[in-house]
Amino acid sequence: PEAITVQELANRMAEKGADLVKSLFKMGVMVTVNQTIDQDTAELLVEEFGHNITRVSESDVDIDHTVDVDDEATLKVRPPVVTIMGHVDHGKTSLLDALRGTDVVKGEAGGITQHIGAYQIRAKGGDLVTFLDTPGHEAFTEMRMRGANVTDIVILVVAGDDGLMPQTIEAINHTKAAGVPMIVAITKSDKPEYKPQKIRERLLEHEIVVEAMSGDVQDVEVSAKTGAGLDELIEKILLQAELLELRANPDRAAEATVVEAKLDKGKGPLATVLITRGTLKVGDIFVVGVHSGRVRALHDDKGRQIKSAPPALPVEVLGLSGVPMAGDTLTVVDNEARAREVAAFRAEQATAKRTTSAPTNLENMFSALA
Ligand code: GTP
Ligand code: MG
Repeated sequence: PEAITVQELANRMAEKGADLVKSLFKMGVMVTVNQTIDQDTAELLVEEFGHNITRVSESDVDIDHTVDVDDEATLKVRPPVVTIMGHVDHGKTSLLDALRGTDVVKGEAGGITQHIGAYQIRAKGGDLVTFLDTPGHEAFTEMRMRGANVTDIVILVVAGDDGLMPQTIEAINHTKAAGVPMIVAITKSDKPEYKPQKIRERLLEHEIVVEAMSGDVQDVEVSAKTGAGLDELIEKILLQAELLELRANPDRAAEATVVEAKLDKGKGPLATVLITRGTLKVGDIFVVGVHSGRVRALHDDKGRQIKSAPPALPVEVLGLSGVPMAGDTLTVVDNEARAREVAAFRAEQATAKRTTSAPTNLENMFSALA
């Protein structure tokens, strides 16, 4: 039969090993933290601590999402997170740059001072929109597989002087699989060879019926070069966002998803994260993937130092113990001991995953518990 050490179970429940030992003692089971208990006893303990462990092999089983759901009343409207996808050279980066150019606050504090993997603009009406810099399709899929489905809306960029290309089709399939609404941007409208209608017709073959063809997928003709259609594109994003009723609780300990991370010679490990709920503040103690840390500084996408970051804001975080991976979850915790404990547990789990292709006993154990 499967067994688990008391410490491992404690880590998974984010409780102290000693507390589990005490409870076991009351149940008449005398063990130390490093000894194993059987599945039935483990199940009893899990119930005893009021946990509901359903997440099995993910790195964050220790955070009990099933009970950590935000109350309706705490939810406030948040900006949409938009990812741009499309074929090589179809104009994704140019479109992002052009959209960034529409930011009404650009130019403040030196404007665009650094490139991070995500940025937020304030549209003319005052609404905020967050854009994720075109991750490769692999990164998008990888993040989604790891449960980091941060994208609310996909903009499918198709060059109107070209056609549907292999990566366009891939992007369509990934978007469908993720269940994320799509807006089609037919770009390079300034070019003489521009034939948007041909694109719309080809999209039908992939069951994408755009508005111009009486369907319900929004489409817009744009040019990154002249700026034509950009306002309309932003309007469509905001309209789609309204339909999605995107909300998050800003008044709680923060959770965020790593968009990109690197080791900076001067500043040490840096991560660009997107806040998914709560507000991240300077001084907060956190776990991120297998690392931990304390927020030493926060920078927005314009390189400005900020003290706190609300939902859907991308920020660069300083103060990590190591470089996390894209898609990792950053979770604010109460104290450093707890941060180190969870980080160490995740590291151990990551090693176990690497060394065994078959599910470990632990994983079997927790599928059974779920
Ligand atoms: P990858 O990152 O390599 O996949 O390319 P991308 O999709 O980011 O395309 P990028 O923005 O780099 O644009 C590719 C080429 O198309 C560049 O030479 C751009 O100058 C050009 N381009 C992009 N948008 C437009 C546009 O609206 N009009 C015109 N005329 N050219 C454009
Ligand atoms: Mg590009």
